[in-house]
Amino acid sequence: MEPWQTIIEPFRIHSVEPIRLTTREERERALEAAGWNLFNLHADDVIIDLLTDSGTGAMSRDQWAAVQHGDESYAGSPSWFAFLESVQALWPFPHVIPTHQGRAAERILFSVLGGPGKVVPNNTHFDTTRANVEATGAEARDLPIPEAFHPATVHPFKGNMDVTALEALLEERAEDVPVVFITITNTSGGGQPVSLRNIRAARAVCDRYGIPLFLDACRFAENAWFIKTREEGQADRPIPDIVREMASLADGMTMSAKKDGLANIGGWLAMNDDALAERCRNVLILTEGFPTYGGLAGRDLEAIAQGLREVVDEDYLRYRIVSTAYLGEALDAAGVPLVKPIGGHAVYLDARALLPHIPPLEYPGQSLAVALYREGGIRSVEIGTVMFGRHPDGSESPAATDLVRLAIPRRTYTQSHVDYVIEVVMRVAQHAADLRGYRIVDAPPQLRHFTARFEPL
Ligand SMILES: Cc1ncc(COP(=O)(O)O)c(C=O)c1O
Repeated sequence: MEPWQTIIEPFRIHSVEPIRLTTREERERALEAAGWNLFNLHADDVIIDLLTDSGTGAMSRDQWAAVQHGDESYAGSPSWFAFLESVQALWPFPHVIPTHQGRAAERILFSVLGGPGKVVPNNTHFDTTRANVEATGAEARDLPIPEAFHPATVHPFKGNMDVTALEALLEERAEDVPVVFITITNTSGGGQPVSLRNIRAARAVCDRYGIPLFLDACRFAENAWFIKTREEGQADRPIPDIVREMASLADGMTMSAKKDGLANIGGWLAMNDDALAERCRNVLILTEGFPTYGGLAGRDLEAIAQGLREVVDEDYLRYRIVSTAYLGEALDAAGVPLVKPIGGHAVYLDARALLPHIPPLEYPGQSLAVALYREGGIRSVEIGTVMFGRHPDGSESPAATDLVRLAIPRRTYTQSHVDYVIEVVMRVAQHAADLRGYRIVDAPPQLRHFTARFEPL
């Protein structure tokens, strides 16, 4: 074991992208033009972009080299076989259906399995997953463990599913449940991991009722790292081994390769069931493309194939998890309320606790996210009542929590960028009492957080 305390980035910079340093006045103007929705900003007006870790990471030298191997044959491209081999090395499902990103996999699967009267349980649905379930008329039911509702409560596997609640749901309505989902890591619940033990327990319940278990596996490598470092008996196992055990416990998966595929675009849907795969492929051909490219260019398939080899590297995962924790621990030490323990891909600030004077229906998360941009040009995302407060019948109620996510793009920012973020968040937190709420002046019926326009109250 090396004695060093400093965990360095296990890469050197090979090509740089300029960051435009804006003034506070420029940012005020940009906010007004964007309707105080950070999704509407011009990315050139952002100094540090922590909006998402999805598709925003840096590809490696070897991924860019793989892009040159991209073969754009319509059917049976060698790039497809490279992709398939890499996916199945970790996720040996017989059917792998490539999609342009994770939500396309979700749309295909739920258009086949969903429908009115159905209910899909998940530890916590990600927003696109929820929207794709609900778009079919089915109900998306979140069943996280009770600890997940308390941001300050520490639990090593706070992303776990409440298996007792799952059993109670299946006892009552098994015939309405077409599939059970577990999201690894639990993104909306704070980037928190799920233990192998919990997946096994959910599997056993699903088996009793004959219901398939699927993983939303976007951050599977981060989840595997947490299993290796936190779960009893797992410390000596190679990461790919842990991933394959997760695969063996599931009947299928949806995946966004924009996260732990280390790619800028892509995803897949995979499963064991031949008949279900055939129905899904039929939808794929209608909307995505032929089954050997599914909405992706050959070069994208190659980038993902190489990304999957890199993402299970332990030096990368150690740096990834430790550098995210570095941000969270510094803010925690400064007294900024946040979700604990620190998740894998992001730090989640607890806006409801920081801004108790702003009621949830005046969107404390939105207020905090806007303030971080105004103060230091940092773009984050509200994960709270704006994102989850509106229901299919048009009514609105406070979400379980009002969080602001600082998502860390993979291999993109250095420690000095993160030190700057710490300084900005601390300054905003010191002046939290001055922040005001917002109201929505225009919003679409679904996924409103992407395009809604706001006004300060
Ligand atoms: C847990 C989870 N599921 C699904 C998705 C959807 O993936 P995509 O953005 O590639 O459509 C995301 C993306 O952010 C996610 O975090």
